[in-house]
Amino acid sequence: MLARRLSRSSLHITRSFRICDTRANSSITSDAQSKSQKPYYVTSPIFYVNAAPHIGHLYSMVIADILARWEIMKNPFRDVYYTTGTDEHGLKIQQAAKLEGIPPLQLADYTSERFRNLATAAGLVSTTFIRTTEERHAKSVEDIWRRLVQKGYIYKGVHEGWYAVSDEAFYTAKEVEEVADPSTGIVSYRSIETGKNVVWTQEENYKFRLSEFREPLTQWIQEHSPIYPKKRQEEILHFISDKTSLQDLSVSRPRNRVEWGLPVPNEPSHTIYVWLDALSSYMTAVGHPWANEQAMKAGGWPADVHVVGKDISRFHAIYFPAFLMALDIPLPRSILCHAHWTMNRQKMSKSVGNVVDPFQILERYGGDSVRWYLATLGGHFMDDVDWSLEQLEILHNRDLRGIGNLYKRLHGKSLCSETRVALPSLSSKHSIEAELVESLMTVSRDVTESMKAQEVSRAIEQIMNRIDLTNRYLSQREPWRAPPSTSRDGSIALARESLRICSTLLQPFLPGKMPILLDWLRVPAGMRSLTWATFGAFQSVGGYVATPEQKLFEGI
Ligand code: MSP
Repeated sequence: MLARRLSRSSLHITRSFRICDTRANSSITSDAQSKSQKPYYVTSPIFYVNAAPHIGHLYSMVIADILARWEIMKNPFRDVYYTTGTDEHGLKIQQAAKLEGIPPLQLADYTSERFRNLATAAGLVSTTFIRTTEERHAKSVEDIWRRLVQKGYIYKGVHEGWYAVSDEAFYTAKEVEEVADPSTGIVSYRSIETGKNVVWTQEENYKFRLSEFREPLTQWIQEHSPIYPKKRQEEILHFISDKTSLQDLSVSRPRNRVEWGLPVPNEPSHTIYVWLDALSSYMTAVGHPWANEQAMKAGGWPADVHVVGKDISRFHAIYFPAFLMALDIPLPRSILCHAHWTMNRQKMSKSVGNVVDPFQILERYGGDSVRWYLATLGGHFMDDVDWSLEQLEILHNRDLRGIGNLYKRLHGKSLCSETRVALPSLSSKHSIEAELVESLMTVSRDVTESMKAQEVSRAIEQIMNRIDLTNRYLSQREPWRAPPSTSRDGSIALARESLRICSTLLQPFLPGKMPILLDWLRVPAGMRSLTWATFGAFQSVGGYVATPEQKLFEGI
């Protein structure tokens, strides 16, 4: 049984992914372990439905998908849940629908479907696609609101301050700057952080006692170090330490201003703040309100990782954990904040009009090449990356063709035989052969460490170093020129062993093509997990036959 690929309709259904592993000795312990362990849970942000998906959104989805697939490969006995979806309420959507002259739900239905299609086109292993306009979500948020009120964390107050509709965020005076239009001299105000216009609002709101959470939040972050990269964590700690920043948070808007949203229970003249609504979706997607702790764990809660863009780190690393603390619900294990894709160094966004259509790119280059580009250049997470098709093609031609080349070189009829060929015995410690063997012995450990530290680019680089070394090794040995001999067979076996280990490790990054390679290498479905990515683990299985060549990676 293989990790199942999702059909479009199955995106609605909550279900977990497992791959079967036939490790004879470890199956009993792993099964027992998986029963005591909660399912792994990863989320992408849920996307606003005011505009069509762009590459930045696909990137968030793909990074979460890589983490989900890594976990599936690492522990085939553990259930893996991955939630994505759409954020459909709030003033931003209300205004966008008004501009289009259609009801907000019509806009939401239309755009949500496009995000769902993108998840399918990108081949995500997502188990749940959540929409905040679903009935189950309304129930979940209502429960959260009532409990926050019961516990005394919500009170009625008056809010006076700046609000950016585009960010659906409140800002303090310190976070806002004045700008004068050079041609007209007209003065307006905008958020220093996001550059989005703000308007002064004064209204009656319900407020959440966020200021009470300064200490517990600081302690949580210092003890668990949950935010990646660490530089982002420092920024968050700095923000929390500033008394003027961490004030009580408005968690409702007057209904007459924001009518598109969930009403405050028993107070329909107020609408629940869209971020409280949206963040709760991570819980709704895995069964909140839970009947008991067991049900919560069975749903996978708390999330192992929330993948988010740096623009929304504050909501995930401060507001959400504070809500959860107030509710006595366990906090996420980690939050991965990625940087942005830019176009000519400006953040790609619909409002600027500089977006790249992800459907077109997927169609033109195929899922694996696009993932590779997004993950290789975007997997450092700290720095913004400027979008470039030229770069995408360079990476494809350098890395993916490198893998394809290795496969092609080993595929020749003369190099294949039904009988198993033994790995070479090493004659010298200083040979390229010894270097390759040593690097294959450590690759799985290195990549695992990188993935644990959420350093996706580094993990990719570590695998590619081995592919490159294997290609160099083959160029030196040229087994296709040598007459049949034990040493020739040894070189072929070693190169194949390298390809087997690398393509096993590459599955989360290149889920479209790696199964082809592993099929060719005759790796049974149950031997494609991380434990098998060790040198020599596969020796007991048969030889390699020349099969009709399947296209792997062509040059662009
Ligand atoms: N709806 C909120 C998230 C709520 S999560 C409970 C939201 N939506 S969004 O559609 O504006 O953005 C969704 C994600 O896409 C965010 O993580 C954001 O950082 C990411 N990106 C939007 N533009 C991006 C780039 N140009 N580059 C990389 N990621 C980008 O925020």
